[in-house]
Amino acid sequence: MTPQTRYTQVAIILHWLIALGVIGLIVAGKWMAGAINQPETQALAYDVFQLHKSVGITVLLLTILRLAWRLGHRPPPLPDAMPGWQKAAATGAHWLFYLLLIGIPLSGWALVSASPLGLPTLLYGVVEWPHIAALTHVADRQATAHQLEEVHELLGNAMLLLVLLHVAAALKHQYLDRDNLLARMLPFLARG
Ligand code: HEM
Repeated sequence: MTPQTRYTQVAIILHWLIALGVIGLIVAGKWMAGAINQPETQALAYDVFQLHKSVGITVLLLTILRLAWRLGHRPPPLPDAMPGWQKAAATGAHWLFYLLLIGIPLSGWALVSASPLGLPTLLYGVVEWPHIAALTHVADRQATAHQLEEVHELLGNAMLLLVLLHVAAALKHQYLDRDNLLARMLPFLARG
């Protein structure tokens, strides 16, 4: 496989770091949202909340890096044999990923900023991450935080759906269509 037919090394590394982060965040997010209300899991859930916030902000920063990289390094073109609607769907899905990768962490950051609990965010227990000042002064912090929680959950569910579709499409291309599409992101899978 020639370099023009796959993503750059930097794009590949960022893709897999972000993918790992997002899957962990969805699993941890779903668990902790319930576990924080159970006395027997509350203490562990509190620690998972802190880690979730740290990894979430990391994913936001990695996404900004990925977008900046993408502006200077166009992705390899999709195979000529791919029908137009599939190309449009793939491109649309990729931009939807970026939208969610920015919108989800921003809504998470907004919800902890609005929360009347006022808990600090210490990235990996070390670096203090500020709250969004405007949200710490809203009239009804409880109601605002609740609405932002709903937005964060909705976007998180949309991300889960998109990840499942994305994985299904990648596997279909690799194992049914056998067009080497997955190998653009996983070069060791390349055949022929
Ligand atoms: C790409 C990044 C992120 C993803 C994919 C993600 C995903 C999720 C998911 C799926 C949930 C569970 C929602 C539910 O079903 O109730 C959740 C909850 C939560 N997330 Fe995130 N999150 C991300 C980033 C962040 C960031 C950056 C913060 C804060 C700085 C944050 C703070 C929270 C909090 C506080 C909750 C619990 C909300 C509740 O109590 O219901 N998240 N997240």
